[in-house]
Amino acid sequence: MSGPSARADLTARAERADLADPLAGIRDRFDLDDGVVYLDGNSLGALPRSVPARVAEVVGVQWGRMRIRSWTECGWWEAPERIGDRIAPLVGAPPGHVVVGDSTSVNVFRAVVSALRMTPGRNEVLVDATSFPTDGYLAASAARLAGATLRAVQPDRVPDEVGDDTAAVLLNHVDYRTGRLWDMGALTASAHSAGARVVWDLSHSAGTLPVQLDRHRVDFAVGCTYKYLNGGPGAPAYFFVRPDLLSGLDQPLPGWCSHDDPFGMEPGYRPAAGITKARTGTPEIISLLALDAALDAWDGVDIEQVRAKSLALTDFFLDCVHRLVPAGVVTNRTPTDQWRGSQVSLSCADAATVMKSLIARGVVGDHRPPDVLRFGFAPLYTRFADALRAAETLAGVLAE
Ligand SMILES: Cc1ncc(COP(=O)(O)O)c(C=O)c1O
Repeated sequence: MSGPSARADLTARAERADLADPLAGIRDRFDLDDGVVYLDGNSLGALPRSVPARVAEVVGVQWGRMRIRSWTECGWWEAPERIGDRIAPLVGAPPGHVVVGDSTSVNVFRAVVSALRMTPGRNEVLVDATSFPTDGYLAASAARLAGATLRAVQPDRVPDEVGDDTAAVLLNHVDYRTGRLWDMGALTASAHSAGARVVWDLSHSAGTLPVQLDRHRVDFAVGCTYKYLNGGPGAPAYFFVRPDLLSGLDQPLPGWCSHDDPFGMEPGYRPAAGITKARTGTPEIISLLALDAALDAWDGVDIEQVRAKSLALTDFFLDCVHRLVPAGVVTNRTPTDQWRGSQVSLSCADAATVMKSLIARGVVGDHRPPDVLRFGFAPLYTRFADALRAAETLAGVLAE
């Protein structure tokens, strides 16, 4: 079935799915305009309505009127750990093992060097060859600093490539380009069976599916908060350490905010207890507290329902594309089974121009070189009707 009958069928399916969606009401927690289909939440999440008033209060009252008192009276000093505890359930971590601060890039470096220091005598770091580039750059620098070598491998080759000399394996949970989801349990177990530590970058999975750091005994994890956690542009990243590794953590950026007595101004370094020892310098208070407010969007949300909706939305979008776009014009790069995150990546000729035309028509995704169109389906605010409109618009652009 194609043409008008396909459209009518898809429209009816979208309406039914939106009506039955248990998360449909959560969309109201976001500031969105109905004229635009926003499918770039895998790059910059939409603005939660809870954020502007909170930021205004932080700036106007806490900074503006209370000034320095806010470090203690408004909980600024403990915000990195407190907000880490709000992220912990979204990544399957126990309280007290996630801290928020710095960028994902910095936290990749922190994690890889920490892993190297925990595995003395081992001289190799394996890095996901398909990784978002910053992870590879930072892993290379961490390895160089430790006198180790860096080897890029495909994630599914880790069980064959990890060996006696491997100190750390750095992997991306969901591939930023293709949307492929990697098996955290199996790959962590294979790294562990060779005696290596594993670092996962959760930037494209947290907030779309149940991440089970504790269950899989993951050693370190990092991730950004400005995508599916909606913390805002440049929102601080998070860093997780496995509970039984925390006491032995020797992180490479031991600034004064990770000191046991930061206001004692001691010349010598003594690490703080707990996850505080993974902090470095003064926390980014305005962005941290914007993130804190953004996390209110998750109140009462069941991550299993989020995952079910994410799979249903991406399935439906792929079906719409299959039925509305003539065969052979686009190639799907995203797995069609459950091994995918919450994005669909399609390749086509002249992808950069196609994405520009889509954006001009109110369908916002993004383009990654050389030929990938990325469509992110943030389950908290994307509707099935949006998926259909995106596919219809894509079919229209490609027909021109
Ligand atoms: C997987 C992954 N890691 C890291 C980053 C970027 O990290 P940073 O926040 O340090 O720029 C991104 C950005 O999109 C990403 O997709």
